[in-house]
Amino acid sequence: MNRVELSKVVQATKHPAKVVVAIGKDQNGKFNPITLEWFMRTSIEPLMFAISIGHTRYSHECLQQNRFFNLCFPSRQMIEAVKLWGSKSGRDLDKLAAAGHEWFTGRLAKYPILRDAKATFECEVVTQVKSGDHTIFVGEVKHAWLDERKEVVTVKELMK
Ligand SMILES: Cc1cc2nc3c(=O)[nH]c(=O)nc-3n(C[C@H](O)[C@H](O)[C@H](O)COP(=O)(O)O)c2cc1C
Repeated sequence: MNRVELSKVVQATKHPAKVVVAIGKDQNGKFNPITLEWFMRTSIEPLMFAISIGHTRYSHECLQQNRFFNLCFPSRQMIEAVKLWGSKSGRDLDKLAAAGHEWFTGRLAKYPILRDAKATFECEVVTQVKSGDHTIFVGEVKHAWLDERKEVVTVKELMK
């Protein structure tokens, strides 16, 4: 056991991680998906998830303006979309339209539910906390959707 650079230990301990997509909405009503590795379940009753979003991301602006997000667990059919949503910004592109995946309107705040996803949790932001250069947004789940036939994508699969 050796004491080494922080980043080296982070790299060595990060796999296999799950990857999710949080869909927010900007001030013009455009939905914006962002690929995320930093998320966790934080409460059983009520069910809650926390997502950590960098201050520079367009999604950060969206979540300050509209206090809802859909937390989507992408399936293997969505690998290219997950790559796109994790590399381009909604400032420059309508990312949801660009990926071309079909969706229908959810119940809570009429945010998109992607038909190709394994699961979606519709969340309302109930609290947030600054964490260095990111903000942790905590969402309370109001509705959940599942397609049992689909399989979730891991970060490892994404990086192949
Ligand atoms: C596998 C993967 C995981 C990521 N995880 C996060 C994350 O947890 N938090 C974050 O703020 N950005 C994360 N990103 C980066 C954002 O997805 C990326 O910067 C995105 O283009 C931001 O889009 P936006 O400007 O439309 O919000 C991740 C990217 C990838 C490819």
